[in-house]
Amino acid sequence: MTTQSSNSHLSTPVTVVGLGPMGMALAETLLGKGHPLTVWNRTPGKADGLVAKGAHRAATLAEAVSASPVTVMCLKDYDAMYRIFDPVADTLAHRTLVNLNSGTPKEAHAAVSWAEAHDLAYLDGAIMVPPPLVGHPESVFLYSGSREVFDKHRAALASLGDPRFLGADPGLAVLHNTALLEMMYATMNGWLHATALVGSANVSAVDFAEIALGWFMPAVVNPTTLLAQAPDLDRAHYPGDLGTLDMNLNALEHIARTSQEQGVHSDQPRQMKELAEQARAAGHGDQNYLSVFEVFKKATQGR
Ligand SMILES: NC(=O)c1ccc[n+]([C@@H]2O[C@H](COP(=O)([O-])OP(=O)(O)OC[C@H]3O[C@@H](n4cnc5c(N)ncnc54)[C@H](OP(=O)(O)O)[C@@H]3O)[C@@H](O)[C@H]2O)c1
Repeated sequence: MTTQSSNSHLSTPVTVVGLGPMGMALAETLLGKGHPLTVWNRTPGKADGLVAKGAHRAATLAEAVSASPVTVMCLKDYDAMYRIFDPVADTLAHRTLVNLNSGTPKEAHAAVSWAEAHDLAYLDGAIMVPPPLVGHPESVFLYSGSREVFDKHRAALASLGDPRFLGADPGLAVLHNTALLEMMYATMNGWLHATALVGSANVSAVDFAEIALGWFMPAVVNPTTLLAQAPDLDRAHYPGDLGTLDMNLNALEHIARTSQEQGVHSDQPRQMKELAEQARAAGHGDQNYLSVFEVFKKATQGR
């Protein structure tokens, strides 16, 4: 009895709309965890493997959405959602859509208005892991907007990973998604450019990795240090007693000049230097490097 009730969400039927690499991973996971699964995709043949494993291929989008208390969609973008849902949205009143495609906060807000206009219950979300990690309990899925929809379908959403509700603002999930991806690209670009820089002296990526990733990142640029500094960002507190922005500008100048001297791409270091120069021009020269945050918080002039 206890087992049955604690696992009762596993029998919750779910519909998945969109069977690209990510939608397929969502569908496979839900099926593998025992959810009766209905699927619909613009290109129906992509569902063949799922149907062979027991999924139901709906003949129409309306049939798919009507088959389950919750429909998880994972399409290329919001435009794709409107393209396929607009013709049938008025027939789906009171159905529930959870949108897991990527986009911008503005698009998420517009989607909520669209859903309200069609009497659809709607939750916006974003996936923070690649397809092979879907279904792992530690894989984070971000949600924002309707707390009611989140709470009602939380158990089914937990089959996909760790569901985190970020707040009532529907744009928060995609905003966090893009912010975290920005961190990923900026970190990778730092590693790639630094590797190109030492590569100009015939140092291999493998050799550089030992000191860059094996020692420097964990010892100097690590989450513990950044976590400890986060409160300073919130209160704009940038004490320069251990090192000033002016001192860091010296290092940034060396990175830009070394890149040029060594014949590697220098746009990225030059841009980092320019950002720090903007912070100095704004009066932060005797504060620490984190004061560049004050530059990032403002819109770029003239763009
Ligand atoms: N793959 C990843 O690693 C990953 C990770 C995190 C988040 N995401 C996000 O998840 C979403 C889906 O990504 P994906 O990797 O599965 O591949 P995708 O190429 O972004 O999306 C493929 C899906 O969108 C459908 N689609 C595209 N244009 C359409 C249109 N005009 N009308 C109707 N359907 C359309 C495709 O249908 P057809 O099969 O008929 O072409 C397919 O179901 C994206 O927003 C992506 O940013 C992906």
